[in-house]
Amino acid sequence: MTYPRDLIDPIILKNREFDLEGFVFGNGDFSPDIMLIGEAPGEVEIRTGVPFTGRSGKELDKTLAIAGLTRDQVYITSIVRSRPFGRKTIIDKTGQKIEKRPNRMPKQKEILLHAPLLDYEIAQVQPKLIIALGGCSLKRLIDNNMKISESHGTIWHGKIKQLGADSNYVPSQQAYDVFPIFHPAAIFYNRKIEPQLIADWEKLKEILEAKAI
Ligand code: URA
Repeated sequence: MTYPRDLIDPIILKNREFDLEGFVFGNGDFSPDIMLIGEAPGEVEIRTGVPFTGRSGKELDKTLAIAGLTRDQVYITSIVRSRPFGRKTIIDKTGQKIEKRPNRMPKQKEILLHAPLLDYEIAQVQPKLIIALGGCSLKRLIDNNMKISESHGTIWHGKIKQLGADSNYVPSQQAYDVFPIFHPAAIFYNRKIEPQLIADWEKLKEILEAKAI
């Protein structure tokens, strides 16, 4: 999808005020029933320019297959389109200081900065079902107080959060179906959730087969 320059340019310019780099566009079928919304690109995605092409992308592909889906049947994007990076100084073998910039979760102000892009994409795609990949996406879309550990695997229906005129979130005009699911990278930190993650994607397959969306 292409975005209007007057939407995207000010955001890219303002990225400089944060530890954000690069820009990854949403990817996939232009008018799909399903829209997957992740957190933010990482180092690999900034290089390839395609969402979920790193380690978590391999996990995402496996789980999409559980639901009988391929990437070209869905649209994939994220709540922040640039890579949030941390700063860590390490000392190498020769005693030299080296600054590392690891991937990190986006901050509220960064999510707010990129909010108009996500709002625009949702309005363009008009998905029948939004898959919120992980807690950050869930909180951005529905409510900061929601937890992915409690909300995953059940369809939530209602008005989602959109950026209002005074830089606050307001309810969307339209109601959406949102299916929250653990972020594919979550199993790297907690293997115990894998059975739940698989069960949720199996449930999604049932929902799609029953044409319940
Ligand atoms: N996590 C995301 O949310 N998006 C990516 O593209 C990669 C990792």
